Amino acid sequence: MLIFFLYTIQLLALNFNTDVSVTWGDWHVDRSSDGEEMKLQMDQSSGSGAATNAEFLFGRFDMHVKLASPDSSGTISTFYLQSPNRDLGWDEADFEFLGTNSTAYYKIHTNLITNGIGGREQQFFFPFDPTADFHTYSFFWTPQQIIWYVNGIPIRVFRKLNDSSILYPNQQPMKVYTSFWNDSGWAGEVNWTNAPFAAQYRTFHVNACVGWRDGSVVNSNCSNAPPFWLKHNLSTWERERIIGMREQYLIYDYCNEKQAVNNATSIECAHNP
Ligand SMILES: *[C@@H]1O[C@H](CO)[C@@H](O)[C@H](O)[C@H]1NC(C)=O
Ligand SMILES: *[C@@H]1O[C@H](CO)[C@@H](O)[C@H](O)[C@H]1NC(C)=O
Ligand SMILES: *[C@@H]1O[C@H](CO)[C@@H](O)[C@H](O)[C@H]1NC(C)=O
Ligand SMILES: *[C@@H]1O[C@H](CO)[C@@H](O)[C@H](O)[C@H]1NC(C)=O
Ligand SMILES: *[C@@H]1O[C@H](CO)[C@@H](O)[C@H](O)[C@H]1NC(C)=O
Ligand SMILES: *[C@@H]1O[C@H](CO)[C@@H](O)[C@H](O)[C@H]1NC(C)=O
Ligand SMILES: *[C@@H]1O[C@H](CO)[C@@H](O)[C@H](O)[C@H]1NC(C)=O
Repeated sequence: MLIFFLYTIQLLALNFNTDVSVTWGDWHVDRSSDGEEMKLQMDQSSGSGAATNAEFLFGRFDMHVKLASPDSSGTISTFYLQSPNRDLGWDEADFEFLGTNSTAYYKIHTNLITNGIGGREQQFFFPFDPTADFHTYSFFWTPQQIIWYVNGIPIRVFRKLNDSSILYPNQQPMKVYTSFWNDSGWAGEVNWTNAPFAAQYRTFHVNACVGWRDGSVVNSNCSNAPPFWLKHNLSTWERERIIGMREQYLIYDYCNEKQAVNNATSIECAHNP
């Protein structure tokens, strides 16, 4: 069963002090001296964010996150992959956690952007209280597909299709980002009486190919990633879990929109359970 190999492979621990840099709100980022934990804080003056120094092209990325509580309406905490170089049009895969007035309404918002084209949102309720403890959120990005996992259970997949109108993120490396910000709109209004808010991140593990571009040539060094991962396709077990998670927790799926954001929608949706 896939879950076994996911958890028996050694992942490299990244250090929040040496492998990650603050991207904004410097004075709101609190990192433990051993680099094992990072707290992103937000108040009326600023939110905060951080990103890996390294860029990756394919790999497995695990982050343990404990979300802000109790009344986090209007706040959004994130864990995502994004291409830092916008010359080519931007690629991104997201986990965004939409705050709420009660932990029961917290939402997992996912999206995928390729060459600047997004609009591929899928939203889920949590199967647990995400503020009570740390839980694991993972991306498993290979040349064949990106899988989103929550506590090792896949909730979503986006496959590479043999169709030139549906781009797949494989032309440029991405960094791993985290952020915590005031949205005040999409996720409700922030009640500043409760500030400062904090989203906590820890045990950041990756096993990934380092990637870089040299002009138009995209390179990757996969000496750290087990080669069989890169060939991994969705197992039967994973397909069943995705369908089961959708039945229980799915709130919104762009595939159900009549007016698709891009014309490829019906084709890509047919291939992404
Ligand atoms: C929070 O975000 C909203 C919407 O962007 C903005 O109107 C408001 O000024 C922000 N508040 C603070 C304190 O940053
Ligand atoms: C909390 O949010 C839910 C869902 O958006 C809403 O129905 C409810 O009225 C809100 N409660 C309060 C006290 O704001
Ligand atoms: C991909 O599509 C092209 C053109 O439609 C076709 O020639 C090629 O055989 C396809 N490759 C695979 C692996 O299906
Ligand atoms: C904001 O939070 C405070 C403290 O929890 C609470 O007393 C107040 O009713 C909240 N305001 C709104 C508009 O929900
Ligand atoms: C690939 O990465 C490994 C481990 O970091 C390193 O030892 C090796 O020199 C790298 N190879 C290339 C071609 O960059
Ligand atoms: C992965 O599996 C699906 C069926 O589940 C198949 O359509 C697809 O061609 C496979 N992809 C690769 C790269 O083997
Ligand atoms: C999308 O499909 C519609 C109807 O088939 C067509 O009129 C439109 O031009 C297409 N848009 C793009 C961007 O391809």
